[in-house]
Amino acid sequence: MITLTSSNPATGGTFVARHEGRVVFVRGSAPGETVVARLLEDPDDAADARFWRAEAVEVLEASPDRVPSVWPEAGTDGVGGADWAHIALPAQRRIATEVLQDLLSRAHVESFPVEDAQVEPAPHDGEGLAWRTRVRFAVDEQGHVGMRGWRSHDVRPVGEDPLSVPAITALDVPSWTPPAGTEAIDVVGTSTGAAAVVVVGRTLDPASLVIPDSWGQASVSVQNSSGLHPVRGDGLVRERVADREFRVSQTGFWQSHREAATLLSDVVAGDLDVRPGDHVWDLYGGVGLFAASAARAAGEGGEVVTVEGNARASALAAENLADLPAARAERGDCLAWVRTAVRAGTRPDLVVLDPPRAGAGAELIRELTAATRRRIVYVSCEPSTLARDLAVAERHGWRIADLRAFDLFPHTHHIESVAVLEPAS
Ligand SMILES: C[S@@+](CC[C@H](N)C(=O)[O-])C[C@H]1O[C@@H](n2cnc3c(N)ncnc32)[C@H](O)[C@@H]1O
Repeated sequence: MITLTSSNPATGGTFVARHEGRVVFVRGSAPGETVVARLLEDPDDAADARFWRAEAVEVLEASPDRVPSVWPEAGTDGVGGADWAHIALPAQRRIATEVLQDLLSRAHVESFPVEDAQVEPAPHDGEGLAWRTRVRFAVDEQGHVGMRGWRSHDVRPVGEDPLSVPAITALDVPSWTPPAGTEAIDVVGTSTGAAAVVVVGRTLDPASLVIPDSWGQASVSVQNSSGLHPVRGDGLVRERVADREFRVSQTGFWQSHREAATLLSDVVAGDLDVRPGDHVWDLYGGVGLFAASAARAAGEGGEVVTVEGNARASALAAENLADLPAARAERGDCLAWVRTAVRAGTRPDLVVLDPPRAGAGAELIRELTAATRRRIVYVSCEPSTLARDLAVAERHGWRIADLRAFDLFPHTHHIESVAVLEPAS
């Protein structure tokens, strides 16, 4: 245990403190706060480490940003997934903005005024509660259902969960006693109010699953070593964005905040500004969220190709977009697919890309900046890799025409950003 005073935010939701000259990244603290913290490294083993990590266990002098946690079970030794629940919501956004601006500055992004990058709340978000539509419960060796601790394999008990949508909390999954062999329980609460439960365990027998009454009409599947087995329903969930329904695998990717799909779809459509006849690439396209509005705007003379690595998601994208003549779904690794298309002489007018946290990477950015005619819209859930990739685009002669960031993960340090790139000249 050491006493630390934290200062500016670091990436990953921690705050920077110093102990005898060494940087310590403190979790569970807030800017300007003095805490007693438990070191996560043994100081004898980590004597030569450049930095240490610690978790606050007692507040000695509270930051003005500290409030009673919206989810006390996510505090010290608690569940992960709500690492800023003890910080006032406006302060969370101010701190996330500081992190974003710092990352852009450190990446030497030059074509966009860094101070204009500001984290905005999601629409209708109030106190930032009841937003999460995808939750993974863990199961310990005694069969108790809980959630994993922060950077931990331990399963911690969970009672009230203020961040999940009511369709999830209504199922009361933590009071269920799962069958032996259950490793996790994935729960989805959809935009249509329906719920789905996937019971995960390599050796589970779908035929022997007894669905508890508390799960109401939720669709239920078992995922074991041979794949996903629907027990009730068809293994899919239906998500609605404006007048369009998207079918998504119960275990597949869909934006997590209940407002995210609609918000991002609107922002991307506005930023792309697709014209009739345009040729558009939707990279890391999932089940076709961004391709749908692009294909509608491109019309019959246009072409929108959505590229996705996951076979099931790509097949569902093809089905979700089947009524749109301009749309086509392809399965493949985005970098390999783009290289092949560029070698074949194809040049898109517009590109939207939405990679996982690792970002697009320098190679893909180089290919896209060389091939794209008008605009690239980059949707990112990890600002550090976004900043890195934006700087690469600038070095290849493109400029950042706009950058917006959204608090789509309230009470956590995560943010979603959308950057618009155009040729600099
Ligand atoms: C953040 S999600 C975005 C999905 C979609 N744009 C949406 O908003 O619903 C990233 C997607 O990229 C896919 N993916 C990850 N790496 C990939 C790669 N190298 N090539 C193609 N797709 C990939 C994942 O399967 C996932 O569906």
